[in-house]
Amino acid sequence: MWDKLTALHAATKDRHINDLFDNPGRSSEFASECDGLFFDYSKTNIDAEAKAALIELAISKALETRRAAMFAGEKINQTEDRAVLHTALRNLDGPGVIVDGVDVMPGVKQSLAQMADFANAVRSGSFTGEGGKITDVVNIGIGGSDLGPAMAVPALAAFHDGPKCHFVSNVDGADLVDKLAGLNPKTTLVLVASKTFTTLETMMNARSAMAWMAKEVKDPGAQFAAISTAMQATAEFGIPSSRVFGFEDWVGGRYSMWGPIGLSIMLAVGPESFTEFLRGAQAMDRHFCDAPLAENMPVLLALVGIWHHQISGYGTRAVLPYEQRLLRLPAYLQQLEMESNGKSVSLDGEPLDQTVGPIVWGEPGTNGQHAFYQLIHQGKQIVPCEFIVGAQGHSPDLDAHHKALLSNCLAQSEALLLGRPIEDARTLMKAKGLAGAELEANAQQRVFAGNRPSTTLMYNKLTPFVLGQIVALYEHRVFVEGVLLGINSYDQWGVELGKELAVKLAPAMEDNADISALHVATASLVSRVQSFRSN
Ligand code: F6P
Repeated sequence: MWDKLTALHAATKDRHINDLFDNPGRSSEFASECDGLFFDYSKTNIDAEAKAALIELAISKALETRRAAMFAGEKINQTEDRAVLHTALRNLDGPGVIVDGVDVMPGVKQSLAQMADFANAVRSGSFTGEGGKITDVVNIGIGGSDLGPAMAVPALAAFHDGPKCHFVSNVDGADLVDKLAGLNPKTTLVLVASKTFTTLETMMNARSAMAWMAKEVKDPGAQFAAISTAMQATAEFGIPSSRVFGFEDWVGGRYSMWGPIGLSIMLAVGPESFTEFLRGAQAMDRHFCDAPLAENMPVLLALVGIWHHQISGYGTRAVLPYEQRLLRLPAYLQQLEMESNGKSVSLDGEPLDQTVGPIVWGEPGTNGQHAFYQLIHQGKQIVPCEFIVGAQGHSPDLDAHHKALLSNCLAQSEALLLGRPIEDARTLMKAKGLAGAELEANAQQRVFAGNRPSTTLMYNKLTPFVLGQIVALYEHRVFVEGVLLGINSYDQWGVELGKELAVKLAPAMEDNADISALHVATASLVSRVQSFRSN
């Protein structure tokens, strides 16, 4: 199948995407809709034949069987011998889900109820700090224990009616200092979020936050809660079990904000809006399970990704939310996509013969336009762009801003598609009064090649339901790409080596440490550190 796709690409790569719009039905034929979320991939070079071949590839890789295995709780994360069941966390009114002979749904519902009870207590003021009602929540976690809530909390700013949430992740003390600055320890709640409760950054930040609070609060531990799968470690840290929100090892870190790791989201927007967020994800799960492959949004998003990266050889993909409140979505997707699919060996440990996992990056529009869009439009390399935009904002009195945002977003995808040919650039320069060599040189600078692919994901307003749909859409995209490439999307061995070396190197950071046994390159940098620090 890969050969067939490569041949189709070779035969069509010089065709202009705009020529595909000779088919008047293209805009609706190369699009998909699910519960108010609309995905348009008509501005890519995928035609009916390529789409059919991509779907054949998915079928040949037994995508539907693998999908059923994931939802049924089979241990598809083979290298860690775990089920992959973040979908169970939002299976609000679905059937039971069995892992090792036990239905996990009663536990999921109980955990959601525990979160809601606590969130209601904090939000109503029946749970207080030493100084009264909780005004601020500090979530301490990193990676999957940070990026999801740190993305979702600002995304749902229009729905905030609870305490203000802050996120500390980096072991750099500056992160903690800056986030705690101005907070009143007597009305602050600290959530220590760590699946393993061993992560160096999180444990160090948690201990320092405890020391910060202990300066002014008699019983600082009473204003701490833990979110973890490691109940013994949370007890050893000194957090009583009544304020520990546990979850199971079948929830991967970067897939975990649907359960207790999402507690900060629930504290900010309340249990009802959080449930709407879960309902949006559940709607996408149902669509993913039930819609035919040719209309299935996560499948189509993944096939577009495969077409661009594996088949067309484009090395990166830009995620461009025209939605300021999704400013952390690109960072969230970097972990989701690159930690999941940045692999070099197959499920069976065989070396892969193609690259997997494109580099994901991006910034909200219109800021990106005034930064890196120059390269996107006129650079030599092609960057497939994924535009994300809502038809309406949440401030009716600023609707003019929203209309400007929309026109910018749609203009960018049209500019990428059509470009500006040399003839038009010449006309433009002529109108400015240029002539001869000067006209020609200036016109050349103003040529846009066009024929650059983009997709658009659109919805009405960014609500909790829509956010749930979008995140679940991307989660399933990662799954589909992983299945088609034959890799395990749910482990992350690539993060281990650096962590091990950091632990080994820790003693060398002490003043006057013996560095003779270090690698020469590292020793050179350590002596530079020592010399800076001695001044
Ligand atoms: O270092 C990567 C990682 O293991 C991620 O996969 C995970 O989300 C993050 O660290 C945090 O881990 P934990 O929740 O156990 O602190």
